[in-house]
Amino acid sequence: MKLLRFERFDDLDFPKLMELYRESNLENIPYFFPEETDRQRGLRAVEAGFRDYLEHGFFEEPGNRYYVLSDGERWASAIRLSPIPERERAWYAEALETAPTLRRQGYGRKLMELLCFSLAQGGPFELTDSVGKRNTASLAFHESLGFTVWQDPSRSPLDGEINQRSLGLGYRFKGWEAQTVDPALLSKRYKVRRLTEEDIPALLALCADNPLYYRYCPPAPSAESLLADLAALPPRRTLNDKYYLGFFEGGRLAAVLDMIPGFPKPEIVFWGFFMLRRDLQGQGRGSALVSGLCSALAALGFRAVRLGWVRGNPQAEHFWKKNGFRETGVSYETGNYTVVVAQRELA
Ligand SMILES: CC(C)(COP(=O)(O)OP(=O)(O)OC[C@H]1O[C@@H](n2cnc3c(N)ncnc32)[C@H](O)[C@@H]1OP(=O)(O)O)[C@@H](O)C(=O)NCCC(=O)NCCS
Repeated sequence: MKLLRFERFDDLDFPKLMELYRESNLENIPYFFPEETDRQRGLRAVEAGFRDYLEHGFFEEPGNRYYVLSDGERWASAIRLSPIPERERAWYAEALETAPTLRRQGYGRKLMELLCFSLAQGGPFELTDSVGKRNTASLAFHESLGFTVWQDPSRSPLDGEINQRSLGLGYRFKGWEAQTVDPALLSKRYKVRRLTEEDIPALLALCADNPLYYRYCPPAPSAESLLADLAALPPRRTLNDKYYLGFFEGGRLAAVLDMIPGFPKPEIVFWGFFMLRRDLQGQGRGSALVSGLCSALAALGFRAVRLGWVRGNPQAEHFWKKNGFRETGVSYETGNYTVVVAQRELA
């Protein structure tokens, strides 16, 4: 899956975009053309209006852009963003939509995660959206992404219009520097810092050299899947909570750790992914790194580390058990495998 960004109408595949919005466009016929009785004619008229707005309105405004999540051939989800006048790095979102046949399959979440990660590469930002008070799907969706209610009723930051039937929802990323855990404190041996898009080639090399892991936890890594991992978040968390860390030695990436401090409870740190470079394995380096991390996290006041391994992966199970992780008794199914949840107390 790939996030596409369009800043000019001519770059957009308009018919493909209209496929995605087809259901909404059909629903909009009575609103825009109340006299129209022919559905196909009505649809064409709504699409013509949509095109006119994008070509001669939306894309004429500096900074406006459309984002689309493409799943190979299909365009699954889309959203458009406008910069809010006189507010630094603040964006107003409109026309969020997932194609009806693809809803509740995580496409909308992927679109928003990749979008937020991409905006975060430029520093702190704010994203606002207005959502109908009766649009339960969209309200639940925004809440699951960490948006909160900022206005009731909503007020458009673009033209000031108040809509009594909508809520203004907001997402704020405070910037990587504003995070609560300083990565530099996590290891004495390695230089630790957050990974960015620019680190993907090094990350891919490290991951691709560990085929056993991906045999149990497919698919095999790619630049696209790793970008999605850098952006991925558990429900109701934002990028403020995310630490996808690289451990560097002599300038080379030696290990990576995807960490969410305070998840699922404030005193717990969740580790989503840990991998050591292959040529460093088998020398006690992974265990030493884990032990140093646990001491550093305990010193920061956390009480436990929680993680999961794929049932049947002997390397993972052996490694985590050896490092003091105990099965909690909870396991869950993903489409392809079972994840066993385990925890290590830090006290
Ligand atoms: C809102 C919308 C974009 C969500 O897109 P989506 O691709 O279906 O969302 P996802 O599958 O990524 O859902 C992510 C999470 O959002 C929440 N969510 C999404 N749809 C939901 C629904 N119908 N009911 C309850 N929760 C929902 C869930 O927590 C979901 O996670 P889960 O499936 O693991 O429980 C989609 O419903 C849509 O296009 N609606 C019509 C247009 C619209 O209302 N746009 C918003 C205008 S403000």
